[in-house]
Order: sequence, then structure tokens, then C-alpha cells
Amino acid sequence: MNNSLFQKVKVTKATKSRIDTVDFENLAFGNVFTDHMLECDYENGEWINPQVRPYGNIELSPSARVFHYGQAVFEGMKAFKDEQDQVWLFRPEENYRRFNKSSTRLAIPEVPKEVFMDGLEVLVDLDRNWVQKGRGNSLYLRPFVIATEAGVSASPSTKYKFMIICSPAKAYYSGEVRVVFAEKFSRAADGGVGFAKAAGNYAAQFYPTNLAKEEGYQQVVWTDASTHEYLEEAGTMNVFFRIGDTLLTAPTGDRILDGVTRKSVLTLAEHLNIPTEVRRVSVQEIVEAARAGTLKEMFGSGTAATINPIKGFACKNEKFELPQQKDSYANLFKEKLMDIQYNISEDLFGWRHLVQPKAL
Ligand code: COI
Repeated sequence: MNNSLFQKVKVTKATKSRIDTVDFENLAFGNVFTDHMLECDYENGEWINPQVRPYGNIELSPSARVFHYGQAVFEGMKAFKDEQDQVWLFRPEENYRRFNKSSTRLAIPEVPKEVFMDGLEVLVDLDRNWVQKGRGNSLYLRPFVIATEAGVSASPSTKYKFMIICSPAKAYYSGEVRVVFAEKFSRAADGGVGFAKAAGNYAAQFYPTNLAKEEGYQQVVWTDASTHEYLEEAGTMNVFFRIGDTLLTAPTGDRILDGVTRKSVLTLAEHLNIPTEVRRVSVQEIVEAARAGTLKEMFGSGTAATINPIKGFACKNEKFELPQQKDSYANLFKEKLMDIQYNISEDLFGWRHLVQPKAL
């Protein structure tokens, strides 16, 4: 780590840890936060005062731009603990790169690498006791930036707050996942912000997803906005299909998030010689494959969701259940990924990043 931020960052430790109050075996995703958080403000054209301090509320003007125009982006990352108590981040540079890509699209100034990466390390190191050992346990890391300038003029803010908060996490979905293919609502359009982790992308999915939930489906698989004929992503996850032994997924672009787990699955698939096609996937071919029994699997990939099997789907009032596979790709990728994340297998692709203990 570059020592510059480490030396500059002000660290105020919590007087008493809350860790003993947490039931780590019964965590609902994203409800419990660690003792500390990172905060850094942008004013007069520069990022200033990076600090790690006790987790707590922040004060903002009711007219802060973020409340009115949703000028905000975020990331999702995870830290894992191995059997030797070492803590690892998974591909953090990919999240940093995407964070800035999202920020640029929302006219938010880029966060400098030392603030993001070194700040993350200082924070995760300080809260390392919150990273629980054992497969399935992780510390979910949520970097985000919000527009803080007061005033409701519809223009980019001149002030921002960058923060990272951390939440111990197990599985994102607590039960089986079934999805519905979007026929009416859309998530993203060409030239829009679908590729970005813009806060509003998620809010816009809540209403259609609630309608899907009323019908017993946990997620919507979004289709292209103009024809609804091609399958894109599921909002919390990129989506993979297995027809026969071929793995299919849609290419990323303006409308689809460039998922870190998605690209890790593609690298693993290549390494494992699994035939893969990254191309537009039509609703029709998936429905026909399901009818013919050649659609063997569907699964989602994402940081929070990891690799999540999709048990069934609905399309235009027709319902399909997918059979359990003995040689499931979803399972294979999940295990291979976890072996890397928990420092069990060799890090063939350079994806692990050790959080050095700094004894603050
Ligand atoms: C993630 O997987 O990290 C995400 O940001 C998805 C979010 C809806 C939990």
C-alpha cells in the first residue's frame, strides 16, 4: 500500500465494539454494520479529510442534491477470511474502475485511487474481526458517493461525500429464486445509465419487482427496452443460461452492468474448457430450450448474490421449472470462486488482494 493516505487518514476508533451484540448465524443481508466507516468530502475541486471513524449518522441539508436528483453511485465488494485469519479482498481494482466509470456518467468527480483503495484497506483492517471465517461468510463492503451540495438547482453538485460502510453477510437470497422475464417495464436504454451502479437504477426496479414478488418471483430478468425479445440482466445479478453444455450470457454494454462475478465466471469457464457464448440471448430460444428440455440451468452472478441458481421462470403467463443438475455449472463456478476467495486454491488469475494487518 502507498503510505500517503495511510499516514494522512485520520482514524478515530470506536470506544466499544458492538461485535458481541451480533448474531452472525442469523444475518439478514445488509442490516448490520461494523464499528467503523470511511468518510471523505469533496469541496473546491478536491477530495479532503479522509477519515475512518465510528459508524454513525451523517448530517445533510434537506436540499442536498442527492435527495432531489439522485446524484449517487455505489459499489458492492466483499472481504473474506481464510483459515489462517488472513483477510482478502476479491478483485478490488475492478470495483474501483467501475466506481469511477459510474461516477463519470453521473457527473461526479472520480475518487482518487489512494482514497478508495488505501481507505478501504485501513477500514477493513480496523474491522477485521467482523470478517467471519468459514465458507459462505464474508464482509460486504459498500463504497458510495453522494451529492451533498445544498440547493435544488438541477445541475451537478459541487460538493460530494464518499463513504465506505461494511456489513457482515451470508447469502443474499434466503430461499429459492424464480424470475419473471420483463414484458412491459424496462430497466435500461441505449445511451442511458444501465451499465452504471447508479442508485436510481435500483430504485426504478423496486415497483416492477414488487409486482413480480406478488406472483411468487423474486426477481425480474430485464429484456431490451425496444423489443423485449432479448434477455439482459436481473438487476441484482447478471444472468447465465446453460443450453446442453453451452454457457450463454448477454454481452455487457450501455444497458448491462459489467459484473465482476460475471467476468470471473467467464474466465473460469474458459479455464475449464466450458463452451461459452457471449451474445444476445433471445427469450424465444430460452423458452424453446425449456420446452425441449435442453435448458439445463439458469443462474445469476453478483457480488452480493454470488452464484445463485434460478429454479424457474415465467414468460408470458407460461411457467417453467428447471431440473436439478448433478453436474451443475452454478455449483461448479460457486465452489471454484469460493476456493479462490477463501485462499484455498491457487490464485491463478491474480484476483486476491491481501489486507495487510497494520496494527493501528
Ligand atoms: C452487489 O451485488 O454488490 C450489488 O450491488 C447488488 C445489490 C442489489 C445488493
